[in-house]
Amino acid sequence: MAARTVLIADDDAAHRRMLGAALESADLACRYAADGEEAVRAADEPLDLVLLDVRMPKLDGIGALRRIHERRPELPVVVVTAHGDVRLAVEAMKLGARDFLEKPIDIEELRSVVADILERPGPPAERPEDGSDEPRTLVGLSDGLARVRETVRRAAGSTATVLVRGESGTGKELVARAIHELSDRRAGPFVAVNCAAVPETLLESELFGHERGAFTGAESRRIGRFEQADGGTLFLDEIGEMLPGLQVRLLRALQERSFERLGGTAPVRVDIRVVAATNRDLVAAIAAGRFREDLYYRLAVVDILLPPLRERREDVLPTAQHLLARLRPGEPPRLGPEAASALALHDWPGNVRELSNVLERALLFAGHGEIRAEHLPPGLRELGEPDPASGAAGDASGVRPGVSLETVERELIAKTLRSLGGNRTRTARALGLSRRALLYKLKRYELR
Ligand SMILES: Nc1ncnc2c1ncn2[C@@H]1O[C@H](COP(=O)(O)OP(=O)(O)OP(=O)(O)O)[C@@H](O)[C@H]1O
Ligand SMILES: [Mg+2]
Repeated sequence: MAARTVLIADDDAAHRRMLGAALESADLACRYAADGEEAVRAADEPLDLVLLDVRMPKLDGIGALRRIHERRPELPVVVVTAHGDVRLAVEAMKLGARDFLEKPIDIEELRSVVADILERPGPPAERPEDGSDEPRTLVGLSDGLARVRETVRRAAGSTATVLVRGESGTGKELVARAIHELSDRRAGPFVAVNCAAVPETLLESELFGHERGAFTGAESRRIGRFEQADGGTLFLDEIGEMLPGLQVRLLRALQERSFERLGGTAPVRVDIRVVAATNRDLVAAIAAGRFREDLYYRLAVVDILLPPLRERREDVLPTAQHLLARLRPGEPPRLGPEAASALALHDWPGNVRELSNVLERALLFAGHGEIRAEHLPPGLRELGEPDPASGAAGDASGVRPGVSLETVERELIAKTLRSLGGNRTRTARALGLSRRALLYKLKRYELR
């Protein structure tokens, strides 16, 4: 079994190290966060448990617990409270913490609490409160994303293999996780393997494991990812990079629902759902003889194509708002009109991931103020400059201090409309207006 990973969130560096040493000596891998915001961000990485100090700067442990559970309700969290602070401990338990520990921490107690939780799978995660199966995290108002959400919901109710296709950064992994979390397997493991990141020669043993002595260097038995994912979901990322020889083995394992470890003879049976993802054109790869057609059909029982961001421009600003709220919980910064129009006009070759990087950078430059075009990377910020063709206010002043809101509004509407090919429904959505309100403004500003 691969080492389990524990996130230790504590603002006191010495305390963090002490807890880390105690858990590492119990064969656990540790990651660290120095405040609540860092903890929330780190909780997006593969983790098995979070140890959360209640008193932390930026975002306290209770706030961090709420936010972590919004995104990963199944992730067990243990809170650490000051001695005698029963009220906070109780509050944390009500919010879904699995256990609590009081300072000063008794190392033996810590190890036993952690071991206990890691051995016992938790109660099934709560579904979203409104009772719907809609994965809230897949943001997007476009028809394209609505279709994706619908397919995700249907796929979650079956064990059919799913193939997720899409350009880099379009949310393929997010879709895979959403399927897992909406399925009855949500209490089981979600195991991700990046087929491109593991060297070819090791991928087979990574997936299927090996027996001791199976090859030089195989000093002990290793349990592969297939077995680790038993009862849960196996996510095979960048499946298009897998070599044909291994494709054959994968196909057999999927068909027979069993396989042998390398160097082993006994078949191992597993109960898993496979979600595969690729940013390659697999049909072209099949034509070129690099991908097996039979494996393709086996994987693509449910086929989800994630549209690139530039083909659903009305999603850019809502997604930006969502990402900003995630990057700066509690006080999401405002997007100025020039910056918003630059974002709406950009082509986003790196899709949502690029958008997220651009916003993270902008937050750095903007501090706690509004995000303006000048906070965007060069090449992007110019898109927010006023467009002389739209003739706003008869000059090129655009958004400057003292310019009327109406000038800015007219400019933003004109640009958004143009970037969306004149489609009024989409423009209204992108700007957060009703269609009627948009039509009214178009008339008022004499835009067409
Ligand atoms: N529709 C969406 N709503 C909210 N967040 C999204 C959406 N799509 C992507 N993201 C976010 O964008 C980032 C990139 O998504 P993800 O890692 O799932 O993309 P990917 O397709 O797997 O990319 P790559 O091909 O580069 O591995 C993540 O932080 C993810 O949460
Ligand atoms: Mg990915």
